[in-house]
Amino acid sequence: MKFFVDTADTAEIKALAASGLLDGVTTNPSLIAKSGRKILDVIAEICEIVDGPVSAEVAATDYDGMMREAAVLRAIAHNVTVKLPLTPDGLRACRMLSGEGVMTNVTLCFSAAQAILAAKAGATFVSPFVGRLDDIGQDGMELIDEIVTIYDNYEDFDTQVLVASVRNPIHVTAAAKIGAHVVTLPPNVLRMLYAHPLTDKGLAAFMADWAATGQTIA
Ligand code: G3P
Repeated sequence: MKFFVDTADTAEIKALAASGLLDGVTTNPSLIAKSGRKILDVIAEICEIVDGPVSAEVAATDYDGMMREAAVLRAIAHNVTVKLPLTPDGLRACRMLSGEGVMTNVTLCFSAAQAILAAKAGATFVSPFVGRLDDIGQDGMELIDEIVTIYDNYEDFDTQVLVASVRNPIHVTAAAKIGAHVVTLPPNVLRMLYAHPLTDKGLAAFMADWAATGQTIA
């Protein structure tokens, strides 16, 4: 299972990349806005920190505009993944870019039918938003299960399921049980994965016992 981090905060990305557990980064227009920086600068900096796929989302909503923006974004670095909305124009751009060997991430996926379209358009990744479905009383993880099952039925569907809009560690373990390829995690959720009170308690006890021995290892 690949771990991407869902942020445009380069200080956070640097800190998390040091763990060696980070496989990529996803951004979106809201995260770029939150960073207060220019998209081309942020994406270039992220691509220097992380070798894996870095999703940069187009802001145009028409095919020609998306293709113009995709040309600018893909020129930033070899690992830029062009993120496109799940619309007829977005999928048309996805088909074209995938044919040119560009990595693509089709975003704002909320149904299995939409995910089938993304796979047929040759998307490298499809991003179903589990948290936003949960927010409206639908089980986001059921959608992940459906998409993974459908994709497994077809050898020619190479699209990876990138679980997005992740809100807590339960989303991560549930996605892993289903076999989703990637989760993109807000930094706070990634940090939450490490935490368990018994780990803290156990470590404190070990350290107290160790101190009593008066030994050192190195
Ligand atoms: O990047 C897309 C997705 O992860 C957004 O998440 O929390 O805004 O629903 P959220």
